[in-house]
Amino acid sequence: MDDLKLITALDDAPSPEAITGFRTGMMPFWHPVLEASALECGGPTGVRLLGRNLVLARLDGEIVVFPDVCRHFQARLSLGTLVQVNGEQALQCPYHGWAFGTGGRCVRIPQLAPGRKIPMTANLTSYRAVERYGIIWVCLADEATFPIPDFPEMGDTSFRKVRLRETKPMRTSSTRMIMGTLDDTHFPWVHEGILGDRNKPEPPNHKVWRQDNELVVQYEVEQPPGLMTTDMSRPDAQRAGPVRILYTDHVGMPNVIRLVKDTDAGRYVIWLATSPVDYNTTINFWIFARNYDLNPASDAAYEAMSAHVRLQDKPIIESQRPWLIPPFWTRVELPMGPGDLPLMEYQKWIEELGIATAI
Ligand code: FES
Ligand SMILES: [Fe+2]
Repeated sequence: MDDLKLITALDDAPSPEAITGFRTGMMPFWHPVLEASALECGGPTGVRLLGRNLVLARLDGEIVVFPDVCRHFQARLSLGTLVQVNGEQALQCPYHGWAFGTGGRCVRIPQLAPGRKIPMTANLTSYRAVERYGIIWVCLADEATFPIPDFPEMGDTSFRKVRLRETKPMRTSSTRMIMGTLDDTHFPWVHEGILGDRNKPEPPNHKVWRQDNELVVQYEVEQPPGLMTTDMSRPDAQRAGPVRILYTDHVGMPNVIRLVKDTDAGRYVIWLATSPVDYNTTINFWIFARNYDLNPASDAAYEAMSAHVRLQDKPIIESQRPWLIPPFWTRVELPMGPGDLPLMEYQKWIEELGIATAI
């Protein structure tokens, strides 16, 4: 098949093999699925992760994650309620009242004949979940390949944080979302005036290496003065010229990225955790941290600026096909060194991890 026919064929969907490869390859990692505050009242709440419907609840303080389907006649457990069974909290199915406790154990079948025991086969599969950075993370495999990546600024009280919730999922894959955030050569084109200047499109000199469980990219650039580079609360801020920045990007494989921008003003951090709802749908959890201009009244301006930049990216990232990153050997894409070195290294890594396997 020639290249054009191939890409046209992939316009609507990747092959079933590629979709299965992506879902399977992404399984052994921690994925962010829900703001922890959504489970404050215990739940249940339904989410979708890697093409599966899951139900989340907090039973006696412990987060539980099950397939969102009852063992009895397949009703949605996320429509259920939390109840007490033998002094412990359980999730009760809305259809016939079967109830499930921690570990997915079926703890009550109201219709059970007297003297009959609840069969083991009534139990649900239970997945692992943890709460970190105010977000609930789920791993669908028995073991996660990597721990949840570090986010040192999150626990540092000298940083002010702003969260950005995207109300709608992005129509893209989470790997494309990570690449779109790691890619700096689009800054002058998509974010002109904020992150770059079209008259200076030359890519910076990237250093790229792997460290522990991360891909690290470092480079220096100049960017226009603005909220992400300058302390705009200072009286002389408007007169500031282009600002020299040291970027250090940490990609926590395969779905979290932390962009650290160091300038004379201080540090500005863009943190993104992507939730692979499916191969073509991604929910983004953003946290922005800064250690200058700490007045809480400034937060709204930072939030608006971040939302604006995200909206500039959205139509472009959503336009990319195929939905999934093609493996290098297919030559569908044409990365151009040395400017695209960080993206080439990212692609190599997801191939090694078994995430980019077919188109
Ligand atoms: S379908 Fe859940 S109890 Fe019957
Ligand atoms: Fe962008």
